[in-house]
Amino acid sequence: MAILELRHVSKFFGGLAANSDVSFEVPVGTIMGLIGPNGAGKTTLFNCITGYYPPSKGEIVFDGRAMNGLLPDKVCKLGMARTWQKVRPLTNLPVLDNVIVGALCRTRSVRDARRIAQEQLHIVKLEGKAHLLAGALPIGERKKLEVARVLATKPKLLLLDEVMGGLNPAESEEIIQLILDIRKEGITQMVIEHDMKAIMRLSDRIVVLNSGEKLAEGSPDEIVNNPQVIEAYLGAES
Ligand SMILES: Nc1ncnc2c1ncn2[C@@H]1O[C@H](COP(=O)(O)OP(=O)(O)O)[C@@H](O)[C@H]1O
Ligand SMILES: [Mg+2]
Repeated sequence: MAILELRHVSKFFGGLAANSDVSFEVPVGTIMGLIGPNGAGKTTLFNCITGYYPPSKGEIVFDGRAMNGLLPDKVCKLGMARTWQKVRPLTNLPVLDNVIVGALCRTRSVRDARRIAQEQLHIVKLEGKAHLLAGALPIGERKKLEVARVLATKPKLLLLDEVMGGLNPAESEEIIQLILDIRKEGITQMVIEHDMKAIMRLSDRIVVLNSGEKLAEGSPDEIVNNPQVIEAYLGAES
């Protein structure tokens, strides 16, 4: 069963088609990799899926429900959460409070929210930093905080936008393990990432965007052996 379905989604900024007639389905419980060159429209597609922009054309169906026009807070309540390519913690609040803000999506009780937040900090191994200001964390820990914040909203579908960007190999490995652990919990994920080794390990299927259009879709093996993908994206990487 598909938890997310995109039907002919386009997003125009003036004359620019940042997304153009993109269709695919994400089966429940799987990890869908989303790759493509810079400017291909990956982040814009996340913005359309999660309600930050209404698509210019097409339809997005999440969990059996058409999403078009729903705003991000409503989308989050329905069970979708995303991280930002440029992490945006509330820098003047402690790490714990940042995660409590996410948990308050599910409960009005601050005590319950604190408990949920502490669980999430434990999962991302930041419980020892709970009382530091978020602004004091180095980038690797900010990325983990970002994941804890979205997990605290108890999503069914998690969208991660370059969550390994700027991390060293050890930090990236931690995030990879975290993503695999999240899958074990049954949470569906879409992952934008440039590191092909990571994307190959993580993804059940991969969608490739190029100039806003879906260039290819398939298993990791199919994608790395697809001549069009090699020409448009992978060739340029090496
Ligand atoms: N809010 C916006 N207004 C105008 N153009 C935008 C906006 N957001 C993205 N774009 C343009 O859309 C294209 C796709 O951008 P983006 O989705 O960020 O690509 P990617 O995440 O794949 O690098 C780029 O040409 C970018 O400049
Ligand atoms: Mg992007």
